[in-house]
Amino acid sequence: MPKTMVLALVLAAGTAAAAGPTPTRQAELNHLLIHDCGSCHGMTMKGGLGPSLLPQALVERTDDDLLASIVEGHPGTAMPPWGPLLNPGEAEWLVRRLREGAGLK
Ligand code: HEC
Repeated sequence: MPKTMVLALVLAAGTAAAAGPTPTRQAELNHLLIHDCGSCHGMTMKGGLGPSLLPQALVERTDDDLLASIVEGHPGTAMPPWGPLLNPGEAEWLVRRLREGAGLK
């Protein structure tokens, strides 16, 4: 393999790590978002048992705030803590997906 190609592969691998979950894990997380989160927040995130998670509903919330909701849940409500199932990078990725309008595409 030519040296430039090896370098390209190494760089690509580095970018993938910085971008968060692997493509396989991203597909699993998207599934979780639509089917698990969606069971309460609506498959299009427009709300149901839980509040709307559409981008416009979250504009006033900080990333830290949303991360805490996801990782710790809201004790005393139906919102469960997802920390046991998600590592911090995965929870952050879900927040980004919500801000991008996950469920709408
Ligand atoms: C069993 C139902 C249920 C499931 C499943 C669920 N949620 Fe929730 N979620 C709720 C409820 C109910 C609230 C509002 C709790 C309250 O009144 O404080 C909430 C609140 C939230 C909030 C805070 C929103 C705000 O504006 O305060 C976020 C963010 C959130 N959920 C994300 C998620 C994500 C991401 C998932 C999937 C990993 C998920 N939820 C799965 C029921 C659920």
